[in-house]
Amino acid sequence: MNELPILQQLDLIDKLPTLPVVVNQINQLIASNRSSMAQIAAVIARDQAIASRVIRLVNSAFYGLQGRVSSIQQAITLLGLNTVKNLVTGVAVIKAFDNPGKPSIFDRQKFWMHTFACAVLSRGISRLRKCGEPEDYFMAGLLHDIGILVLDQFFHEKFISILQEYTKNHTDYTETEIAIIQVTHCDIGEYLSQKWHIPELLSLSIKYHHTPLFALNIPPSILDILFTVHISDSFIQSKGYHIGLKGEPAKGSRVILHRLGITESDIIPVWEETQNTVATVVREWGI
Ligand SMILES: [Fe+2]
Ligand SMILES: [Fe+2]
Repeated sequence: MNELPILQQLDLIDKLPTLPVVVNQINQLIASNRSSMAQIAAVIARDQAIASRVIRLVNSAFYGLQGRVSSIQQAITLLGLNTVKNLVTGVAVIKAFDNPGKPSIFDRQKFWMHTFACAVLSRGISRLRKCGEPEDYFMAGLLHDIGILVLDQFFHEKFISILQEYTKNHTDYTETEIAIIQVTHCDIGEYLSQKWHIPELLSLSIKYHHTPLFALNIPPSILDILFTVHISDSFIQSKGYHIGLKGEPAKGSRVILHRLGITESDIIPVWEETQNTVATVVREWGI
């Protein structure tokens, strides 16, 4: 098995995390355009573990509804279907990786602080630019590095070699991955997201978050999301929210900022406004 490429090895892992059926069911119902909000709410409510977590999150300070919500139907009415659908997906993915991982130089807590910081800032930038659904940006930011967890959980020794090599030589992180396992966490994350059938905006953001200029022929709304995630990812690393590795912080790209029509000084106030919420949001998500 060791000689097979990593993506083929992934296919052979029978304990690969799966998502609860509710995620696929609601995506299909929404895509069919023939279902009512009540039907979608009923499907979510059937998975009590997911539904109760979503209701708890909806009542958290982050959404500003403060304890007003007691059912999924109500959550959809107050926050919209898209936000609730994203919450269901996010809760399901995080649950799939609730294994604490083996003790190592990789710090999962720092990893989650990094991804939540990216999520919160991406949402903030989308609000600043008044474009798209801010909750789509949040979810793309939250899941962009999910391939790293796959590496930690299923290819632990190789992952540790990558981290050691990266820390020692301060090269580019994804180049270190290519040198050691021939694929990046972006390829691995995308592969898993395809298997899970999660929305395209998430799988494409996962795939291209380090190489946004390689994202060709994809819908402009999704391109905007992955550009934002790319910029947020670099920005938060420069503020110390890296995934827990010693190395050079990733550099943002001027070209991407230009394509988004903003400058780094536009991001600073958004970050100042949102950075204090990161630790609270991580706690609210039960990490
Ligand atoms: Fe990444
Ligand atoms: Fe990242």
